[in-house]
Amino acid sequence: MSKNQNTLMGWIDDRLPVTQTYEKHMSKYYAPKNFNFWYFFGVLSMLMLANQILTGIWLTMNYVPSAEGAFASVEYIMRDVEWGWLLRYMHSTGATFFFIAVYLHMMRAVLYGSYQKPRELIWIFGMLIYLALMAEAFMGYVLPWGQMSYWGAQVIISLFSVLPYGDALTEWIRGDFLISGATLNRFFALHVIAVPLVLVMLVVLHLLALHEVGSNNPDGVDIKKLKDENGKPLDGVPFHPYYTVHDMVGIVVFLMIFCTVMFFFPEGNGFMLEYANFEPANGLKTPEHIAPVWYFGSFYSILRAFPDKVLGVIAMAAAIAILFVLPWLDRSPVKSWRYKGWISKIFILVFAVTFVLLTWLGTQPATGVNLILARVGTAIYFAFFVLMPFYSSMEKTKPVPERVTGGH
Ligand code: HEM
Repeated sequence: MSKNQNTLMGWIDDRLPVTQTYEKHMSKYYAPKNFNFWYFFGVLSMLMLANQILTGIWLTMNYVPSAEGAFASVEYIMRDVEWGWLLRYMHSTGATFFFIAVYLHMMRAVLYGSYQKPRELIWIFGMLIYLALMAEAFMGYVLPWGQMSYWGAQVIISLFSVLPYGDALTEWIRGDFLISGATLNRFFALHVIAVPLVLVMLVVLHLLALHEVGSNNPDGVDIKKLKDENGKPLDGVPFHPYYTVHDMVGIVVFLMIFCTVMFFFPEGNGFMLEYANFEPANGLKTPEHIAPVWYFGSFYSILRAFPDKVLGVIAMAAAIAILFVLPWLDRSPVKSWRYKGWISKIFILVFAVTFVLLTWLGTQPATGVNLILARVGTAIYFAFFVLMPFYSSMEKTKPVPERVTGGH
């Protein structure tokens, strides 16, 4: 029974735990007080998810999901629909900023060992989100039905042909003998409703799992160990109002950068909206370089690093799959890289640089020096993970402090 029997809120609370849920997840959720820059990207990912869903709903009102009408409808949105250009650029720039936020969010987990026990499930849900996000972005890119939409889809769908029953499988995915309006229609359905629904559900599970065990922090210290006489963590502050206000700063700065890119460089020099995609899809004319949008670059580089298509696909799938088991590869007794040994520190830095390099190489032709670099990068990428059980458990770590550092 609620304490406020005579109020409307009391009446609702007796039937639905609104206040209780708000307190559990906001005003009485204790978050470590030493969160830094890296902890902005969870909320920023949520902001971008909301942006994609909202602008997507309005784009759908004028977009025509057919091979005959799609390209022209996007032009119509850009030129004739009131504020249509803004909606489209918010959506296309939003995709890029969504991936920037998610990659930095994942990097934070790597830096501070946030995937380690007891947060393995948060990481697994995160990886499922990442997979869904890749599928979502890929299918969205097909919708304008430009040259790169068509040929990008051709390359990605053909990857499935290396699997057993590959030809039947690719035909099933396309819904036709080649990429056609049938493929576009199903991608539209998946992009607009099915995958966003899955994404939202996964984000809810991600956050429920997080709030069950509590947030990690840049020191990797468990704040629940030291509590005051009221049972509140000494190194924690209530999420609301402390972090709701704090996060506003990150949101404003992020939106300033977002708006600068969206208003002044919406094509991102061909990395965000590729120039070949301003030509309508033509199944008889292959573009000279088929390159993915920047955020798929790293895995595309790994795919092309192998001369054999089957090996390339296996390596690409393995590069994503190995991320799922990261919590079990890291055998360090400490979480944060601040207290790990120098091998981990160097490996983390080299890994981050390699990932950026592979991302860039994926947008370039895979020839000459580029190809050699992609091969070296692929080797480093896998070495980081495969060798982790050894270097993380063997190296000398520093003592972790009792209390968090900073944030006082
Ligand atoms: C739509 C995408 C995502 C959203 C909206 C999201 C949201 C959030 C939020 C709001 C938090 C708490 C605040 C913070 O720690 O920054 C969080 C924590 C976390 N997320 Fe995500 N996330 C997303 C994707 C991912 C991905 C792809 C991964 C990794 C594969 C991941 C791994 C984690 C981990 C390990 C934590 C706990 C961090 C800690 O306590 O130190 N998340 N997420």
